[in-house]
Amino acid sequence: MNCARDVMPFFIGCRKRSAKEVTESFGLLENARDAFGDLRDWVIISVGDGKRPRTGSAFRFATKAHWVHSIDPETDVTWFEKTLPEKFDVRPRSFSVHKNFAHELRGAINCEGKKTLVIQCHSHAATREALDVAFNYASLSLIEMPCCKKLDTRLFDKALVKEAGLETYSDGQILSGKNQIYIWRDASKITSVLKQPKTKKVAGREAFSVCPV
Ligand SMILES: C[S@@+](CC[C@H](N)C(=O)[O-])C[C@H]1O[C@@H](n2cnc3c(N)ncnc32)[C@H](O)[C@@H]1O
Repeated sequence: MNCARDVMPFFIGCRKRSAKEVTESFGLLENARDAFGDLRDWVIISVGDGKRPRTGSAFRFATKAHWVHSIDPETDVTWFEKTLPEKFDVRPRSFSVHKNFAHELRGAINCEGKKTLVIQCHSHAATREALDVAFNYASLSLIEMPCCKKLDTRLFDKALVKEAGLETYSDGQILSGKNQIYIWRDASKITSVLKQPKTKKVAGREAFSVCPV
């Protein structure tokens, strides 16, 4: 892998199980490539990327994406801006980190009319908040690999599944028990559904399930 020297600093020394983290980030990259091709000139937005933007780095160094954004309130900006270039001599281009919750960046990321992919690798951000950061895109797609977060049940409405092109499967190459992949080819279709208010409980029952997404 040509980019090993560049991505390595993102994965070493921060956790005991770095190899597992590698399979998660690069597993999502492989799933994205299988679904969308080489991602050349796409805008990639990795939401809930963690303290160090590991999944963002996999997409940055292993693709020719137009721009990669990484969003997480826990981002270690000093590590990214100082330690990475000074200690590791790595200076990524067209790679922005945002130390924010997704909802703080609503409509803030201009995707310059490009195809855009939002990635949620074990992210705790709500799906709608993650999608809402992007504007001015040619198309909007989404890959989720949830850990403890439950996906909003409205996303699995039969008609919507077809319209938004949902594919889901578990990826055994990802060395985590939480390796279920959800890919929405046209995530613009799901944003309007998620904007609708959830049905309130009526006499102890619900018209459809309400998830704490
Ligand atoms: C389980 S960690 C996953 C981190 C990283 N993606 C990984 O796979 O190691 C969940 C991350 O979601 C982030 N997070 C929680 N709420 C968020 C929000 N509303 N917007 C963006 N990130 C959020 C947390 O700060 C945390 O870093």
